[in-house]
Amino acid sequence: MISWDDYQEESTTTTAPAAPVIDATVEAVAKAEAIKKAERAAEASKPSTEAPINNTLDRETQVDSDQDQSIAKNIADAAEVIANMDISAGLEELEQSGQRIQVDQKRMINCRADLNQLVPFKYDWAWQKYLDGCANHWMPQEVNMTADIALWKSDEGLSEDERLIVMRSLGYFSTADSLVANNLALAIYRLITNPECRQYILRQSFEEAIHTHAYQYCIESLGMDEGEVFNMYREVPSVAKKASWSLSHTHSLSDPTFTTGTLETDQELLRNLVGFYAVTEGIFFYCGFTQILSMGRRNKMTGIAEQFQYILRDESMHLNFGIDVINQIKLENPQLWTVEFQEEVIQMILEGTQIEIEYARDTMPRGVLGMNAKMMEEYLQFIANRRLAQLGLPEQFQGVTNPFPWMSEIMDLRKEKNFFETRVIEYQTGGALSWD
Ligand SMILES: [Fe+2]
Ligand SMILES: [Fe+2]
Repeated sequence: MISWDDYQEESTTTTAPAAPVIDATVEAVAKAEAIKKAERAAEASKPSTEAPINNTLDRETQVDSDQDQSIAKNIADAAEVIANMDISAGLEELEQSGQRIQVDQKRMINCRADLNQLVPFKYDWAWQKYLDGCANHWMPQEVNMTADIALWKSDEGLSEDERLIVMRSLGYFSTADSLVANNLALAIYRLITNPECRQYILRQSFEEAIHTHAYQYCIESLGMDEGEVFNMYREVPSVAKKASWSLSHTHSLSDPTFTTGTLETDQELLRNLVGFYAVTEGIFFYCGFTQILSMGRRNKMTGIAEQFQYILRDESMHLNFGIDVINQIKLENPQLWTVEFQEEVIQMILEGTQIEIEYARDTMPRGVLGMNAKMMEEYLQFIANRRLAQLGLPEQFQGVTNPFPWMSEIMDLRKEKNFFETRVIEYQTGGALSWD
């Protein structure tokens, strides 16, 4: 077990603190000693000409000696490599590595400055979102699923329409968050050339892993057919259309040879960001979230609803981060935001809205949980207007209002209070760790 007392004792018995500068003489002595040790081991391991090795003990001694010799040689080789190491060789790969970064050198895309220097911050909002994401940390196992399991297994617990909503939601989301995570890690991360934004993208990637974990945890808790649920994004048309649309916007960027730097490639990156942040996370998640949270408000499937509530809080931050990134790229690269390109982005938002409306119709053939497909259509048009406005584009649906104002209240919840008031939660990241 690690003990700080042991560490203290050990450190106080050392004779002197390490010299701040590498002492070449000490290194040379260490290297010479290692070589001598290797030579001694080699000498000792020479077979005797007088008496052949003819018993087990001698053979074991021989093996030990060979191993000692080999280890000593490896250590000597490592010491020699490090003694002759040229530290400039690795750093040459980092452009301007010899300089300290200035804020005005930082750019969202196509930045040539050293990306390993996190500070000074240029985009404080990105760092703040990273801190907020960490402060909202949660894990799926913290949510009690007992009532959900009983309700799901009871014959009278849920109507067929309600069961369809649970199945479709888990079917879509169980793979959708993997699509988002893959896009972050395999496409976006390397193309966003700003360290504080990359820090948030890493946090977001972990949150997407937690979301996929949460869906898997729900599916396992309810004893669902995992193969059926995880394959819905390929087998159920209204789910498959959403996944397919998202995937169509990651193909070119996930090609490892793709780079930005031209009008066309920079616009392609923007298309990906709009497709994933504004449409996938900003529209495709909202019908399912609203349905499950409406179920929770009626005291049904409260465990799943609580999981979705935490996920929705994370997702609204992902969405806001993505919108800020897109708008910052626009600000720094106004040549990308042409009239034609703006029309293309409007078209993408409209396509996403239509796909989600079709999903609403498929999952709500009748009125259920105090809502119906028509109300959801208006809600999605309201959401689409919001996304367009956030991107500085004109709203496309006139006169629509929000039929589910309680959704905004859930998103604005402070972390300490559970919406369903089943318990009070205070996350202490790191505070619960113990070395004992
Ligand atoms: Fe997610
Ligand atoms: Fe997300």
